[in-house]
Amino acid sequence: MTEEAAARAEQARTILRTNDRGGYAVPTARLYPFQWNWDSAFVAMGWACFDETRAWQEILSLLKGQWEDGLIPQIVFHAPSDDYFPGPDVWGIARDPPTSGITQPPVLATAVRVMLESATDHALAERMAATIYPRLLLNHHWWQTARDPDGSGLVATLHPWETGMDNSPAWDAALARVPTQTTTVIRRRDTDHVDASARPRGEEYQRFIHLVDAFHAVGWDAARMLAVSPFRVADIGTNAILLRAERDLLTLATRFGTPHDSAAISERIARQEAALPRLWNAGQGGFVSFDLIAGTRIPVATSAGFLPLFARCATAEQIGAMAAKIDRWAALVPHLVPSTDPGHPAFEPLRYWRGPIWAVVNWMIADGCDWAGHPVLATRIRRDTIGLISNGGFSEYFNPVDGRGVGGADFSWTAAIYLLLAEG
Ligand code: DGY
Repeated sequence: MTEEAAARAEQARTILRTNDRGGYAVPTARLYPFQWNWDSAFVAMGWACFDETRAWQEILSLLKGQWEDGLIPQIVFHAPSDDYFPGPDVWGIARDPPTSGITQPPVLATAVRVMLESATDHALAERMAATIYPRLLLNHHWWQTARDPDGSGLVATLHPWETGMDNSPAWDAALARVPTQTTTVIRRRDTDHVDASARPRGEEYQRFIHLVDAFHAVGWDAARMLAVSPFRVADIGTNAILLRAERDLLTLATRFGTPHDSAAISERIARQEAALPRLWNAGQGGFVSFDLIAGTRIPVATSAGFLPLFARCATAEQIGAMAAKIDRWAALVPHLVPSTDPGHPAFEPLRYWRGPIWAVVNWMIADGCDWAGHPVLATRIRRDTIGLISNGGFSEYFNPVDGRGVGGADFSWTAAIYLLLAEG
């Protein structure tokens, strides 16, 4: 490692320590003052690069918010803060600690497997993985029963926040059917911390909060939420991440579970492997999400469409088409991988998930490119990520046109990905 890279890695470690609120790291100060689900999985892997005890603690803290039915919430409100909307009062969920009532992409089993396999403190890792494994099993069971009760092999997401890619153009049409009326008064705080041009628009927030109100009205009951939600999509990102997580859970099950667990997980994997190809859009040469209410594929190419590579679920032909698509995007913008097709009219290089590059997504796509036999592409994506962080700081996301850092600064998951890339 060069001296410069070593200094930057130290900066990354400092960001995690500074964002530590005692057993959990906030994504960044003020903009996101609580613990977020998929952030924590990446952040735990980042901690594991230099403090394994603290890394396992990150996951245990997140699991303090897990519901009895297995849901791992999108947000765990460990300590009060006025810096964020919607806070626990809006969700109205009387738990200790309070949580939101929706979820986020299930990266956690993958993080546990990575941490277990890279551990230097083997005794600790074995103990922690054995403790955490039943909680992961319960969570994956939740995904099946709450979000795919018919066993189609594709899980539904009911809120753009669940996909983690909140204002992606992929959700525009499905979100347009969600009314803008809310019973909750909207008091956005995000635009106090970050320029409004880099955040979701006001109308999107109205629809986001309409969904929160609707779920609150049915008492956060999983079956009723699925039935009443005016937004219901099979997100290619969530489904690919879940399939990868199931594979990692299966590996954990062989060490910490029973043959019965392994059989149930294998059955789900088989169903998901059979279903994911339904999201392939041959005309477009890419995977896309599916609008479960309209019954149609969503014709917007996003970076989530490359995540079947991370799931190890693509044919040689599909791999070739995806690699060619990344090359086409690379001809349009100097930095990879933009969150939305830079040739699409809805592409906005500054606005959150409508164009900017996210280090965590790059990490998953690069991993998938290696699996797919495209090491040159994997290296290009990793180099771009390191270059963006080196020039643009540990930002929340990056403008693919000029490479500048955008959104929150000193961001935990960006720091974590830097550590994983620098030390990987
Ligand atoms: C946000 O941006 O506030 C969403 O909650 C992210 O989960």
